[in-house]
Amino acid sequence: MSKVLSISILGTGRALPDHVLTNADLENRLDTNDEWIRTRTGIQERRIVAAHESTLTLATDAAKDALDDAGLSASDLDLIICATISSEYPFPATACLVQEALGVTEIPAFDLSAACSGFVYGVIQAAHFVHHGTYRHVLVIGAEAMSRFTDYEDRGTCILFGDGAGAAIIGPAQRDGQGIHHTIMGADGSGARMIICPGGGAKEPASRRTVDERMHFLKMRGREVYRFAVTRMQQVIRDAMAAQGLGPEDVAMIVPHQSNLRIIESATEKLGLPPEKVWVNIDRFGNMSGASIPVALDEVMETGRIKPGDWILLAGFGAGLTWASALIRM
Ligand code: COA
Repeated sequence: MSKVLSISILGTGRALPDHVLTNADLENRLDTNDEWIRTRTGIQERRIVAAHESTLTLATDAAKDALDDAGLSASDLDLIICATISSEYPFPATACLVQEALGVTEIPAFDLSAACSGFVYGVIQAAHFVHHGTYRHVLVIGAEAMSRFTDYEDRGTCILFGDGAGAAIIGPAQRDGQGIHHTIMGADGSGARMIICPGGGAKEPASRRTVDERMHFLKMRGREVYRFAVTRMQQVIRDAMAAQGLGPEDVAMIVPHQSNLRIIESATEKLGLPPEKVWVNIDRFGNMSGASIPVALDEVMETGRIKPGDWILLAGFGAGLTWASALIRM
């Protein structure tokens, strides 16, 4: 869709657990090795929540950081959207718990389940609300404690995931032309079971069997997901840029979902993008699902490289299967 949504990103923030889980740590726990992990995924280490941390603590810390950056207080917020697939509880929404933690009441708050695309889905929703004047300041969070749903006996998945949270405050545009100029949101439910946590929901409520069969952990058909991811990553970036007639030289930064360095590099190469314009943090944080893009966005903003009028592109894909992109003029 390419009708301009007039908004601005008023502030961004992030929160990462202190504990670092390295490839060497994983080598000591299961049959894998640093070389395999680096060459197949590009990951060197990830952050993992400690006992006193959770999706809620990360989400709240990232939200406070974004509010600080925007120079706003929690009482300025009109809506909270939390994108997560590792919510604090099956219900209520983590967003409502964040609202309580921020000390505000009454404003709407809900979670959004679109996995690694969740933050971009959330930003697009927020932009519609702000553009149409329904709300002025929307807090969008991507927060995940993936380690709580990761099977550390499954070497095909446990090497990939990490914990973290990122957040952005979406507010009204401050200049002409500022905003989201093109959006893509898509899903293909026929691939819904390619990445799934099969236990603990209405279909398979928690039982001795679901625990014994390790059904409360993420299961993934890695090779199939890889094929989907390579195709979609390239497609959402190419289509977004083409819709606005932008070439690699016109875009200041692509902020892709961080699922595998090979997937990012293949898009970079195929689309002729300069590597320095494609943000990578998977080496340090692994795949943080819905938190990967907002953490990367906050890092990008912190570099000071993004100037008013620059184009940045958020591009994600993930479980669902889902995909999304947002082409933003800063
Ligand atoms: N360490 C060492 N060997 C491992 C391993 C590990 N951690 N995990 C798997 N292997 C082995 C496999 O058992 C297999 O051995 P075999 O050939 O003897 O059977 C071999 O390595 C190749 O496995 P395969 O699953 O084909 O590897 P791959 O090249 O597809 O890489 C992923 C696996 C998970 C890294 C890759 O499929 C991937 O990145 N998929 C997409 C993930 C993704 O994007 N997920 C999130 C979407 S948001």
